[in-house]
Amino acid sequence: MTNLTQNERSVCLLAIESSCDETSASVLCNGKIRSNCIASQKEHAGFGGVIPEIASRAHMRNIVPVVDEALQIAGVKKDQLDAIAFTSGPGLIGSLLVGASFAKAMALALNIPLISINHMQAHVLAHFIADPKPGFPFLCLTVSGGHTQIVYVEDFFEMKIAGQTLDDAAGEAFDKTATLLGLPYPGGPVMDELAMTGNPFRFLFPEPKIADLNFSFSGVKTAILYFLQREKSKNPDFIKENLNDFCASVQHSIVIILINKIRKAAKQFECNEIAIAGGVSANSYLRKKLTQEAEKNNWHLYIPETEYCTDNAAMIAMAAYYKFLVNDFVPQTVSPSARMYF
Ligand code: KG4
Ligand code: ZN
Repeated sequence: MTNLTQNERSVCLLAIESSCDETSASVLCNGKIRSNCIASQKEHAGFGGVIPEIASRAHMRNIVPVVDEALQIAGVKKDQLDAIAFTSGPGLIGSLLVGASFAKAMALALNIPLISINHMQAHVLAHFIADPKPGFPFLCLTVSGGHTQIVYVEDFFEMKIAGQTLDDAAGEAFDKTATLLGLPYPGGPVMDELAMTGNPFRFLFPEPKIADLNFSFSGVKTAILYFLQREKSKNPDFIKENLNDFCASVQHSIVIILINKIRKAAKQFECNEIAIAGGVSANSYLRKKLTQEAEKNNWHLYIPETEYCTDNAAMIAMAAYYKFLVNDFVPQTVSPSARMYF
């Protein structure tokens, strides 16, 4: 990107995301993202999940090159920054500490303010990176590896959780199924790809009976486990012979649970501004089914670019911009927290 002109200069932020296994840095100038660099950790692929200790060490190796790259692509020098933002939670504490310590040290050295961002709020605010942007109030289905929530968004930082998972997250249901199938972590994108040529109606899994807007995925996960055990005892090649249909059927079951709840929430809140966010919102079947549902119900549907669905620092920068505008800064004594609520 070209260097900043004088007009573009007035607010320039660096944001850092390190809550799980992605080390990411982004530069935003005057409300526009100029760079969004992500180092994804391949180290966890064989483990079926993120190993916290390995993640922290990888963040330490990645953070300096990723921040340098983000500044260089943005054409911004360190002394042109007005504030530094970081993810303060929720997430893996060791991973969060790397980003937080780096951001604090850099802000101290440059003598500029620090901005603390809630990762889940940032997923929602990723919708303000590009047009069309949702109007307030809107409902956001936020589905990631650690969370599954329906959020009622009244303003940038006025968010209420209308429903959430009582056990596993939707992303976990994808990832754990993928592990049972012998697929690498993270399993969601791999299953999405395999499901493209599979039959979503070949195998059926039960939908949990939860009357309110909360979710549960543990029953589906157990049903998948028992089903696989039974079929494999009859035919040891069951997975190999049915992989695409199986992925498509599991994906269909997870997506239907999500869509039925958002439809219910839309009715309950009388809201037709509907958005999705978080890693699972990159799922092509969810995007397709939700688009069909939006047409049926006359919803205005907002689906972010896939780059802004999975963990990224651009969403942290976008959220930080709205905090910067109201001078919402934190002191150097701030600490990240593994659990964090709105
Ligand atoms: O938001 P995210 O990047 O990290 C967390 O905050 O957890 O979400 C990661 C989750 C993982 O469970 C991953 O398998 C899932 O998002 N995911 C997908 C897809 N892309 C990422 N799940 C289904 N289909 C996808 N295309
Ligand atoms: Zn996330």
